[in-house]
Amino acid sequence: MALAIRKTLAFFMMITAFQVSFATVYKVGDSAGWTLPFIGHVNYTDWASNKTFHVGDVLEFTYSNLFHNVEQVTQKKYESCDATSPIASYSSGNDYIILKTIGHEYFICGVADHCLLGQKVDINVTAISPLV
Ligand code: CU
Repeated sequence: MALAIRKTLAFFMMITAFQVSFATVYKVGDSAGWTLPFIGHVNYTDWASNKTFHVGDVLEFTYSNLFHNVEQVTQKKYESCDATSPIASYSSGNDYIILKTIGHEYFICGVADHCLLGQKVDINVTAISPLV
């Protein structure tokens, strides 16, 4: 009995270890980082479209915090580029955000009209882990 419990425990610990080791850090915009699309020659919709995001993966936003920030907002505010009362705010210039749940997470730059100019990204988290 005790042995069975121990085996089960070891199995779950192994699964957990696998999930951690397969987590991916995605640098948003790759080498362009988080910037105005026409400056970085980057389209964030295209950037996100060919990726499969999993719970536990990490988004890395890299930018100059003199010019940009990161605001996590609702879908409605994402669409209208409304940065008021965000769900979460980041402004370090090198922010790591762990994807915690399945579903869409919306990020915009809250500075001036950057979001309207395309500095916004819709991350669709579709899977629990790469093993599923
Ligand atoms: Cu900006």
